[in-house]
Order: sequence, then structure tokens, then C-alpha cells
Amino acid sequence: MSDGEVFPVPQEWAAKAHMNAEAYEAAVRQVESDPEGYWTRIGQRLDWIKPFTQVKDVSFDKADFHINWYADGVLNVAANCLDRHLETRGDQVALIWESDDGHSYDALTYRQLHADVCRWANVLKAKGVQKGDRVTIYLPMIPAAAASMLACARIGAIHSVVFGGFSPDSLAGRIQDCDSKVVITADEGLRGGRVVPLKLNVDEALKTCPGVTNVIVVKRTGGDVPMTAGRDEYFSDLKKTVSAECPAEPMGAEDPLFILYTSGSTGKPKGVLHTTGGYLAWASWTHEVVFDYRPGEVFWCTADVGWVTGHSYVVYGPLANGATSLMFEGVPNYPTTSRFWEVCDKHKVEIFYTAPTALRALMREGDEPVKRASRKSIRLLGTVGEPINPEAWLWYHRVVGEERCPIVDTWWQTETGACLMTPLPGAHALKPGSCAKPLPGVKPQLVDAEGLVLDGAINGNLCITDSWPGQMRTVYGDHQRFIDTYFSTYPGKYFTGDGARRDADGYYWITGRVDDVINVSGHRLGTAEIESALVGHHAVAEAAVVGYPHDIKGQGIYCYVTLKVGVEATEALLADLRGHVRHEIGPFAAPDVIQFAPGLPKTRSGKIMRRILRKIAEDDLGNLGDTSTLAEPAVVDDLVKNRAGRG
Ligand code: WTA
Repeated sequence: MSDGEVFPVPQEWAAKAHMNAEAYEAAVRQVESDPEGYWTRIGQRLDWIKPFTQVKDVSFDKADFHINWYADGVLNVAANCLDRHLETRGDQVALIWESDDGHSYDALTYRQLHADVCRWANVLKAKGVQKGDRVTIYLPMIPAAAASMLACARIGAIHSVVFGGFSPDSLAGRIQDCDSKVVITADEGLRGGRVVPLKLNVDEALKTCPGVTNVIVVKRTGGDVPMTAGRDEYFSDLKKTVSAECPAEPMGAEDPLFILYTSGSTGKPKGVLHTTGGYLAWASWTHEVVFDYRPGEVFWCTADVGWVTGHSYVVYGPLANGATSLMFEGVPNYPTTSRFWEVCDKHKVEIFYTAPTALRALMREGDEPVKRASRKSIRLLGTVGEPINPEAWLWYHRVVGEERCPIVDTWWQTETGACLMTPLPGAHALKPGSCAKPLPGVKPQLVDAEGLVLDGAINGNLCITDSWPGQMRTVYGDHQRFIDTYFSTYPGKYFTGDGARRDADGYYWITGRVDDVINVSGHRLGTAEIESALVGHHAVAEAAVVGYPHDIKGQGIYCYVTLKVGVEATEALLADLRGHVRHEIGPFAAPDVIQFAPGLPKTRSGKIMRRILRKIAEDDLGNLGDTSTLAEPAVVDDLVKNRAGRG
């Protein structure tokens, strides 16, 4: 296979970047010869209340499974992201906030953010929140999101941020799973000019969450929302009652920092748990070397704080490094399709990091909306969340970056905390569509279905054979599920759930999920979750959901639905089912295609043959494979004959 164009490292990048090719190779060698020294240096980026003496203590072996990094060290994440910068850059802007409509923005200095965080921390304490307690945060992209996350970190509470696009039901499930007593939300959110009824959603969710004693409401729109006496209070009132000083709680390196729910191939979403020392060290180090971050620069990651990318590259990584992080409330195409580039000009953004799905949508609008803006401040571009097709990559490079900005295509996961594989802009030639090489210390391996290790240029299932500091530590409340999900398919290795190809230069190309997870506009969804929402509808007997290639979203959601006997397949029912999934999970999970299927292809033992369903959804009818082992081969003919138009 030809890998297309290769873009060599520009000379000035090789000369000036934090890590050039020689430094990369030297680091790779050091990991082998002196791992202790290598990992110590990464841990020492942080300010420790009590320095660590233990570095890495890990076993992926089932019999003796444990993951500990810097375990005897004591530190506080909020102190690392705020207090330690006060002396040197207290008056530097920490957070730029850009509003949905572009009419207002805010700039909070480190000193101001520090004071806000302390107030939040004191408010939480006053509500009885203690070290180790869980706090659910359901906010739009406003500074209070970062401030309340850091406030939890400051007092040792564990935050669980739930993306504002999730439905009341999904929110309730996430509150119940970690048993939060306090929920932080806003009256309403604003996205693309539309109002998101966050407080109403919380009220709906709390009908099934009797354990929640306090709801703290931030005023964003000033909308008139119902407040339940004795439970709901406005932050604007509460903050007047507290001081702007709050000591940072000394935390063990392995104390939990946050839970973030993510979809897997089976069951309900998993509460991915990250801890204090290793996570912050990895988020901070990767933010510096991958994005070649320089003091004083404006860094803009467009991700929502409801996803891991927002945690690591809007809040924790940049603030740990004393950066100016831009937080954007809006969407790429509102009020105009120039929005991203106008914001880059307005705030002189140097580093811009977004998702391929946004680029594909903008590319469709042509070059003019990009060229209308100057973009001259931008010097580095990045992508994350899904494979980027070379066409979108080239457009990003030529049109947005005017061929002067390297692109870092960063591969990682909620579970990995921060980047694992990515080109380093001063070290690696770029191949459009490839995430290049592992960061020094990260050990990828390709295996076949049986676990046989594959060498050389080849396709396989992507595992990581050794730990890194930012690795998740457990599934909240279900450690066995953590081990079963990630370390049992290929015993002794972390299995990512992704497939990848390695080329002759040792570059990796992520081919997508090999499990039943689909990636819709960079949002991870378990097909099982959508199926379970569908069968929850009174008309549905059975459902099977698969992904199919979608021009803008990367993958679209294709649902095969078998109706209960006697139910008529109508257009109205289609719309109702779509609305039902939106309502159950959230708008971003709305099916693109629903096909009514009188029967689903099953093996004689009753297992649904998803492979066949995927091929039909992909319109790849020549490759249905052997259907003779099916219980009823004729159902396939019907599915093919009646396949639905693609969205
Ligand atoms: C996919 C987002 C190709 C991958 C940080 C992974 C990517 C899943 C890339 C994790 C990339 C992420 N190239 N695929 N650069 N980055 N992915 O947990 O399938 O929301 O397993 O974390 O996104 O999604 P998650």
C-alpha cells in the first residue's frame, strides 16, 4: 500500500522544538537503559508537597495486578495548576473564555482563577463535600467548569464531569453509579444559538437520584428555571458567603482525581478512574512536548470538558504548564463557518487542536471562510478523536495551516489519560492519516486475534505492553471489570480496542475500533447502549446497531430494528424511534439510519452475526461471506433487498 505524500520536519522545527529527532531517539534509548531516571524526570515536572521516592510499580499480570506511579509522593493538582504559577505569572491570563455568539469574552488571570477555585472549594466544603466524595459536574463550556473541577481537586473530592449533551437518563445513571451527593450545573447552556435546558435535565435526572442533597446552579443565561427549596442554590449567592482562600489538600499520588464515564462494547458506561500524580505528570508533559508549548502562548483545544480531551488539554495539561488556555462555548459553524478562524485571530491563538469531524464539515464549505481570516498567529495544528482521512489532513495543512504549520495527529483514549502515539513536530516527518510513533516510554504491539505478536509492516489489534503514568487505574466500583475489559483478551497486555497498521517505517495508522464501539463525530458510543435504548421502546422486539462510513461524522449509526408482532412499520414510527434514542442517551446518539428488519441474521446458537450487518450497512454486498451457517439464511436476502438509504 502506498502511504502517499510525506512531509519532512521543517528545519526551524528540528532546530527549535522541545524534542527533535535526536532527542526522541535518546529518550527512547533512555527508557530502555534507565527507565527509573526517565520516568523520574517526568514526575519531577510537578511540585510535590512530599517528593516521591518510588517511581514505577506495575504488573499487568492477573495474579499480581497493580498499577502505581510515584506512589509515596504527596501533591495537590490544583496547587500545581494554579498556586505555583502565582508568583511568576499571577497576572498572566490562564483562561480565555469565548462565548457562543462571539459577543462577549472573558479573560481570567491565574490570580483570578485561583480565587474563583478557592471560592468554589469553600462552597463545596460548606455543603459537606469531603476528600474522596464524588461531585457530578454537568455544565456548558464556561469558566465555572474548569473552576469547579479544580475546586474538587483542591479539596480532594473526585469529579465526574458529564457532557452537557447527555440526556437526563444518562446523567442519572452516571450520578447513581458513583453516588454523588452534589451536582453542579447551569440554568441553561448555549450552543450554536440554541438553548440547552441543563437545569431542567438535572431536575428530571434527580427524580431517580435520591442521594443528591445539593444542586449548585451557575447562572449562564439568567433563564427562569425552577429551584427546589432546600436543595438548589445559585453559586452567585453561595460565593458571597465564603472566602477566596482555601488550603490545598495534600493528596497521595495514587488518590483518585476524577471519574469519566465512557462507552465500551458491552454493558453500561464504565467509570474510568484517573489518579493524581501520574495523570497530571503525563497530561502536562505531553502538552509541552507534543504541542511544543512555549510560555506565553495561547493554546486552543476545541473539545468540550465533558470528554477526556477537554480534561487533559483544556484544563489540566495547559494549566499545569502555566499556559493560556482558550475555552470555547460554541460550535464551528455558528454564527458563520469562519468562526474557528475568527477566534484564532481575535485571541492570537498559536496552537489549535480539533477533531477531524469538524474539519470535514468545514472543508465542505470551501476555502473562502478560512481565507477570510488571517490565521497568522497559528504555528501548530493538531487533531484527535478519530482517524483523519488524508483528504481532510491535506486541506487542514494547505488551507488552514498554509503549509507552514505541522499537524500532530494524536492517538489516545479516555483510558490513556493523554496522548500515547503522535508525531512530535520537531522529530517526525508527517504522513497524512498516520499518528506516527509512540511517545518515548509507550510500548505498542500488534497482535492477531489469537494474541500472536506480529512483527514488521502489518495490520493487527493494538495493545500496549507496559504502563505509562497517565494510565487509568480502575473502573470505578468494579475493579474486576477493569481487568476483564482491558487485560484479559490478551493476558498481560493492555488491549486498546483499536486496530492499527504499522508501515515499513514503523509508523502507526489507526484503522478504527475492532470491538462494538462506534465513533460518531469523535464521540464514543457503545452499540449495546443504543440497542438497549431501542428495545426500551414499546414497539421494538429486537435491535442490532452497527457503524457505517459517514462523510462528515466518520461513522454513522445504522440500526436494524425488528418490531413486535402486529406493529406497523411507518414513517411516523421511524421518527419516533429516532426521538426515543435522542431522549434516552442524548442528541448526538440519534440514529442516522433505521431499517425495519423482519429478522436478524443469527447463528444456530442465537448469536447475531454483526459482521454481516456491518457489510450490509457499508453497502459492501460482495463481501457478506459465508451465510450458510445461519439459522435462517433467507433473512439476509431480505435485509439486502430492503436496505435503507444512507444518511
Ligand atoms: C479513536 C479520545 C485515530 C480511537 C481522546 C480510540 C483515534 C478512541 C485518534 C478513543 C486518532 C482517538 N486517530 N483514532 N488520532 N484519537 N481515536 O476515549 O478509536 O473519546 O480508541 O478518547 O478514539 O476515544 P475517547
